[in-house]
Amino acid sequence: MNKIIDPWGTELYKDYEKLIKEFGLEVFNKKLFPEPNRLMRRGVVFAGRDLKRISDCIKNKKEYYVLTGIMPSGEKLHFGNRSVIENVKYFQDHGAKTYVLVADLEALATRGISLEEARKRAFDFHIPAYIALGLDIKKTIFYFQSQNKEVVHHSYLFSRKITLNEFKAIYGNASPSRIMAATTQIADILFPQFKKRIPGIIPVGIDQDPHMRLTRDVVSRTKKMGFIMPSSIYHKFTPSLDGSIKMSKSSPESMIELPDDPKKTCKKLSNAFTGGRNTLKEQKKLGGIPQKCIIFELYKQHLIEDDKELNKIFNECKSGKLMCGECKQMACSLITKFMNDFEKKIEKARKDIDKIKIIEW
Ligand code: TRP
Repeated sequence: MNKIIDPWGTELYKDYEKLIKEFGLEVFNKKLFPEPNRLMRRGVVFAGRDLKRISDCIKNKKEYYVLTGIMPSGEKLHFGNRSVIENVKYFQDHGAKTYVLVADLEALATRGISLEEARKRAFDFHIPAYIALGLDIKKTIFYFQSQNKEVVHHSYLFSRKITLNEFKAIYGNASPSRIMAATTQIADILFPQFKKRIPGIIPVGIDQDPHMRLTRDVVSRTKKMGFIMPSSIYHKFTPSLDGSIKMSKSSPESMIELPDDPKKTCKKLSNAFTGGRNTLKEQKKLGGIPQKCIIFELYKQHLIEDDKELNKIFNECKSGKLMCGECKQMACSLITKFMNDFEKKIEKARKDIDKIKIIEW
């Protein structure tokens, strides 16, 4: 059973190497991509599928697309959503036609959220928040699954190409609602190719890889339709503040949501697991261990853009110059600034909502 990733579950994956081997992922090679973003440079982006195809499109200025989906379920986002958007933005800035879909049919099938409710949440929060995280409002095409007939039609068509046994082998178990959601997602992933077959890349969390595998199986079984194998790119989890592998709602004291109250967030940060020693004296003498520090991981993944600045913190921690108290204080001011900026940008995006391109088919 450990071979199965469940996109609807809460299982954790410690061993990224093992994941790469078991699922036949490609190790991410930043040399393939010009001006790699922060996540790519620092190994936070760790794997993908068919990345060379996309690298060639960028290098030869060929047409390709980037697509991802939002589930309008929660009231808030998390750092994982931000990593996805940063990767979408990377490809958007490197010539990709950009699509972001609202997975309202998936939310209906798997969470029982009505289409009206999903629409309301998407307009009030999810779409403005995605724009606030950096998508170019003029260059991003949004759609709702339920409003896209082509997607719905193709999901029915693709349902003919998978078997129940295959579904169980990929996802661990099957239920009618999961099957509905998965065939819809296959259609989403291939949607930009319906008119014209072009390469595309899907930035998602690793929990979504089963959908990629199923989609790629369907592509190889519909050779006559001539779809180009979709590529994907995956980032690591943001660790929980208590040191476990992934932030999760099940331990709210160790979870930072986006947006979150800065004061509360700083309080959580002050209790975070660090690479500090038992006493100040010992830490001054031996230095801290940034490699196992969650605050440092937050700097690395999300809070510090400049590589030199990050290195400086690493070295000052290791040499015993920088103590955890001061370091947490710094994390607190960075995250406060981030949350305040984020709220402002969401407000702005809400005002710009009529500029957003939402397409129906
Ligand atoms: N299943 C995704 C989620 O849970 C949402 C989604 C639907 C999606 N269709 C997609 C993601 C296509 C990427 C590509 O968040």
